[in-house]
Amino acid sequence: MKGIRLHTRGGPEALVYEEAPQPHPQAGEVLVCVHATAVTPTELLWGPTWKTRTGEDRPFPIILGHEFSGVIAALGAGVTEWAEGDPVYGLNDWFVDGAQAEYCVAPAAPLAPKPRSLDHVQAAVVPISALTAWQALFERASLRAGQRVLIHGAAGSVGSFAVQLARWRGAHVIGTASAPHLDFVRMLGADEVIDYRATRFEESVRDMDVVFDTVGGETLQRSWSVLKAGGTLVTIATQSEGTQDPAVRDAFFIVEANRSQLAEIARLIDDGQLRVFFQEAFPLAQARQAYERAQGGGSRGKVVLRVVS
Ligand SMILES: NC(=O)c1ccc[n+]([C@@H]2O[C@H](COP(=O)([O-])OP(=O)(O)OC[C@H]3O[C@@H](n4cnc5c(N)ncnc54)[C@H](OP(=O)(O)O)[C@@H]3O)[C@@H](O)[C@H]2O)c1
Repeated sequence: MKGIRLHTRGGPEALVYEEAPQPHPQAGEVLVCVHATAVTPTELLWGPTWKTRTGEDRPFPIILGHEFSGVIAALGAGVTEWAEGDPVYGLNDWFVDGAQAEYCVAPAAPLAPKPRSLDHVQAAVVPISALTAWQALFERASLRAGQRVLIHGAAGSVGSFAVQLARWRGAHVIGTASAPHLDFVRMLGADEVIDYRATRFEESVRDMDVVFDTVGGETLQRSWSVLKAGGTLVTIATQSEGTQDPAVRDAFFIVEANRSQLAEIARLIDDGQLRVFFQEAFPLAQARQAYERAQGGGSRGKVVLRVVS
């Protein structure tokens, strides 16, 4: 199969489009014919990209991209819930090869049927960002109707799902973004927006039930002061991974694959209650350009690699 592989640790310049062995599904896994996979540039900084579960260096070559939309191509032993040809979307394991290739292997259980109303390119941007927003708001923070939530990075890939999901849950939503994205965040359903470059958010909000931080660093540190007593702060920012600060360690989590949540997200998308944004699609062979585009920032939604035209 064709794939994008890393033979050394590096940035987009290290990505090589080349022939790679097709993986085989083991028991409980499926082989997915990848139609599209979204680019997460910060994956180049994540621990599991370079380390095994037990902390050793992962052997090269490495294939990135752990979210995808595609079609089941083969079933591993014991898999009965899927059939060849089923359209699915989801995540595979961070510690194994990803989906920037014509085929990838994924555990069968957490995959879900692709949203019917989206094509594969649109569907590929959903799994990581929407699941992260869902798990942050509803699992970690137990957000309820009527509560006040501050979402940092509200125009970003995760933030744009978080604003919509918090609003759907009936919360009062305040989002931070830069000036060019404020109308976008309002359109997603935020009740209030703050231009983070013009205003220090802690001067205009306080007593929040929940703060969801997708930015990290100083934004995270300044967020503790706007929580009400007993409020919950959740952070996903990559720079918080491996922190020594116990409060930040407790607030940080990494998204996990989950079929029932992906299925509920697909239902909301198909019902028109959750909108999906993607920036631009590139052919698989142009992965370097796709990463460079994604690292440029400043736009709405993820960059996608289109594997099947
Ligand atoms: N732990 C996990 O499971 C997990 C899962 C997914 C993502 N992540 C991490 O979460 C972070 C966000 O991911 P993403 O995919 O949503 O990124 P993204 O699409 O690049 O969005 C980031 C957003 O942050 C905004 N921003 C930058 N500085 C800000 C500030 N000081 N205040 C408020 N907003 C600010 C940017 O807005 P403007 O363009 O308007 O400046 C941009 O819209 C990354 O570090 C990613 O690695 C972690």
